[in-house]
Amino acid sequence: MSTANVEHFERLRGSVRVPGDKSTSHRALMVSALAEGESTIRGLSPGLDVAATAQIMEQLGATRSVRDDVVTIVGPSGGLHASDDALDCGNSGTTMRLVSGVVSALPGEHRLIGDASLSQRPMDRVAEPLTLMGARIEGQGPRLSAPLRVVGTDVLRGIAYDVPMASAQVKSAILFAALAANSPTTVVEHVRTRPTTEEMFSRAGVSVVSIESGDGRSVTIQPGRPLARNWLVPGDPSQAAFFAVLGCIHPDADIEVLDIDNARERVGYLGVLQRMGATMTLQTRDAMTTLTVRSSQLAATEVHAREIPSVDEVPVLVVAAAAAEGLSSFRDVGELRVKESDRFEGSLALATKLGCRAWSEGDDLFVEGLGSATRFSSFEVDAGLDHRMVMASAVAGCAGEGCSIGAADTVASSYPNFFDDLERLA
Ligand code: S3P
Repeated sequence: MSTANVEHFERLRGSVRVPGDKSTSHRALMVSALAEGESTIRGLSPGLDVAATAQIMEQLGATRSVRDDVVTIVGPSGGLHASDDALDCGNSGTTMRLVSGVVSALPGEHRLIGDASLSQRPMDRVAEPLTLMGARIEGQGPRLSAPLRVVGTDVLRGIAYDVPMASAQVKSAILFAALAANSPTTVVEHVRTRPTTEEMFSRAGVSVVSIESGDGRSVTIQPGRPLARNWLVPGDPSQAAFFAVLGCIHPDADIEVLDIDNARERVGYLGVLQRMGATMTLQTRDAMTTLTVRSSQLAATEVHAREIPSVDEVPVLVVAAAAAEGLSSFRDVGELRVKESDRFEGSLALATKLGCRAWSEGDDLFVEGLGSATRFSSFEVDAGLDHRMVMASAVAGCAGEGCSIGAADTVASSYPNFFDDLERLA
């Protein structure tokens, strides 16, 4: 594992095209593999997480070919089937949880494995609803971590299920299994999470009814096989967040991030930055948004997890809070603890290394900002097996006094060219 030394750059100018959205990429591969015949995908994420999903779809019987920027997937006419070999999900929670849903509907035994980070993450959150549907799932310890053994069946039952935490992965695992159930399935979420699965199902001809109420939503789908489609993957808004924060907190920046997905469940962080005083413009064309961000004096704010349902952007917003004037709070962000690393402790530690006073109370995080990234201390960090902690640390180092990030190649899970794109702006 290599160490990345990030220096302070004097001036940041130019445009970045972030990788294709990771969530859309996983689902495009899975929906295409489940469909009969040829689908194409343009703009697929080049990260290792999505490569793991692609490999697993091939093991389950889909064929894949790649030409220039177009990936072609052919779903077998008789449907997918169990693989004799273990399904290696690498570092990717989305792969393990969504594939658990897919294979629950495939008769036979499936073994799902992952790296050291993934093998500590809770899978009971998908095992519970999938078991109610008729699959059998065994894992390690009380939270059923990987390696998992899933026994699938072609007689899954439709269920009505209230998802106890805000999780698009849990919702999606159920919806993928529900495609093959013998009756409709309804998933109720109390906080609206990204609608990627249900929207893509609908575009692939599956009957979906989505009803919003208060902060939540219920999604009902009828069983059915998706149709082959040509998919275009927009830029990943969660990757754009790193450049958005960098542009705001760097003392001399004027940068543009091109063509990102702008689903409201994904871009809550832009509202947070605007509230903090970011100088930012958004231009939307064909459901994709281009951001322009300039150096800004940020003020502290209060952020609630509801605004950023997957909490993916919280670590980099903690870096923004560290550069802001005043005390910021991040409420109800306990889900950070079960991501690729414990991002709750990781974010606190990062703010502290930058020179801030930072502390937690229950599931809330507090950061007293320094008023400017020019006051950040230089620091060393080991980001473990967590791509987003690598990028959040790099943003802080680049805007501040530099940093050294151990195990930085983990960034390849989602954004293999992150450091090249960062350097190009300098
Ligand atoms: C994702 C959902 C989120 C997010 C992850 C991608 C998805 O996880 O953190 O990066 O594609 O469904 P949770 O469902 O655990 O919130």
